Amino acid sequence: MIAVVPWDDSCFVADVEGVDFSRPIDPQTLSAIVAAMDRYAVCVFRGTGLDDDAHIAFSRLLGDLELAPRLFGKSVARFAQPELFDAGNLDASGNILKDERRRAYNRGNALWHTDSSFNPHRSSYSLLLAHQVPPQGGNTEFADMRAAYRSLSADLQHECEPLIAEHWLWYSRLLAGYPEPTEEERRAKPPEHHKLVQTHPGSRLKTLYLASHASRIVDRPLEAGRRLLKDLIEHATRPELVRSVEWQQAGDLVIWDNRCTMHRATAFDDTVYRRDMRRTTVFESRA
Ligand code: OGA
Ligand code: MN
Repeated sequence: MIAVVPWDDSCFVADVEGVDFSRPIDPQTLSAIVAAMDRYAVCVFRGTGLDDDAHIAFSRLLGDLELAPRLFGKSVARFAQPELFDAGNLDASGNILKDERRRAYNRGNALWHTDSSFNPHRSSYSLLLAHQVPPQGGNTEFADMRAAYRSLSADLQHECEPLIAEHWLWYSRLLAGYPEPTEEERRAKPPEHHKLVQTHPGSRLKTLYLASHASRIVDRPLEAGRRLLKDLIEHATRPELVRSVEWQQAGDLVIWDNRCTMHRATAFDDTVYRRDMRRTTVFESRA
């Protein structure tokens, strides 16, 4: 039997204990994990012992996997498996990244965001596995977007309900200091539209679907739309709605539901310490 231990009474983050990742996950354990995800949205599994292939195989139990875009060319990809997204600070030889363009790209992860909101097909779960963690810093913070929606005024809930946001990967990258995207980059990741208020399928609760990738509100003047997005992100990330996951050791795994959370990487001394983090990303099922 696995144990699901909520961090507090906010129904947002839980530790999941007792999963034996060295054997195939049985259907009962899998449904207990999915039920925990539906309820809490962020689940923390310590010391899983997963390697790349087992990480990918476990992720596949939750749905079809996105393939990481090879934005910087094949030669710089660190992993043979196209399912692995690189969230660490290392280059293809395993040395600390020096390339300023790629460091600026990674800095986008320090902004509050939702994985893949810039894609037409949303992501349900992200599964981030630690391979090497710095001695201090480099936590990942999560914000509860169901609680954010719930705590808006009725007027603001009403105002947000019909709105559509445009999400553009390059918008968050520009905010993070990445240079103007090339034509090829623009073509690879054009802007996409998503409803701002959605119902989270797992809990049937209303939630905000927001991210720093959100570049404007469709049919609103640019500045007014951006101001609303900024206000909503500030509202959603007030300290009482945020929990911080400290990575303790290689093998720690965190699964989050992108449809009702935002997250961000926090700072660490990234010119001195290696932080090797690898992510799989599950497509929302179309059923
Ligand atoms: C990610 C991400 C944050 C971190 O992998 O999607 O945003 O703390 N990571 O590495
Ligand atoms: Mn992310």
